[in-house]
Amino acid sequence: MIIGILGGTGKEGSGLAYRWALSGHTVVIGSRDAAKAAAGAAELNALLGGKATVRGTSNPDAALSDVVVLTVPFAAQLATAESVVAHLAGKILVDVTVPLAPPKVDRVQLPNGESAVVALQRALGQQVKVVSAFQNVSATHLKIAGHAVDCDVLVCGDDADARETVIGLAHDAGLRAWHAGVLANSIASEALTSVLIAINKRYKVAGSGLRITGVPGTPAK
Ligand SMILES: NC(=O)c1ccc[n+]([C@@H]2O[C@H](COP(=O)([O-])OP(=O)(O)OC[C@H]3O[C@@H](n4cnc5c(N)ncnc54)[C@H](OP(=O)(O)O)[C@@H]3O)[C@@H](O)[C@H]2O)c1
Repeated sequence: MIIGILGGTGKEGSGLAYRWALSGHTVVIGSRDAAKAAAGAAELNALLGGKATVRGTSNPDAALSDVVVLTVPFAAQLATAESVVAHLAGKILVDVTVPLAPPKVDRVQLPNGESAVVALQRALGQQVKVVSAFQNVSATHLKIAGHAVDCDVLVCGDDADARETVIGLAHDAGLRAWHAGVLANSIASEALTSVLIAINKRYKVAGSGLRITGVPGTPAK
């Protein structure tokens, strides 16, 4: 599967790119600046042992991929997705956005009290299968080969097949993931990130995480 990551030069996007490339996917990282993306891809390929499995390009070019992942700051979420919407029809768009409002990122401040991912789905229209995932996984854990990430992934979306695909991608990244219901439930994942940031601050850690318990037969990854 070819995975395109819009804003894949950043902390979270490059971490996911690394893990997916490591698992054998072809990954295309996108940027507003194709040269910056090419440099980011070269860094990732070096980290991957010199195998050229990651390519860097513009965001619109990355959006031509089979599955598209959005990893930009909230302020750029809507404009970035809308700029490539022509390439997203019929595809899964995995939105990782957390609507943080700096500087008080340890406080839940959802825009208009609603999920930013739901607002994105409304703006893009139903021809795009928006799935919410990875909001609670700190980038600090991702770019370390073999590192077991002590955090589950809540996957929310209105299309169960699309959710299943994203759960598979989370598994490929070495993460345990859950069908967490409809896209509207993403409001909980988005809000939880500020809770985790508050825990990070209070306990002086870089990347606290969350686990779902009580489901037999699902050992932690
Ligand atoms: N960092 C984490 O631990 C973490 C964890 C979970 C979820 N998230 C969420 O994932 C998203 C990305 O987080 P991040 O930490 O990776 O962010 P980041 O490193 O600050 O930014 C990611 C990329 O977004 C692009 N970007 C920045 N400003 C932009 C703008 N005004 N317009 C268009 N593109 C812009 C940049 O790419 P170019 O300059 O190359 O275009 C940048 O490399 C956020 O919504 C965040 O809340 C982050």
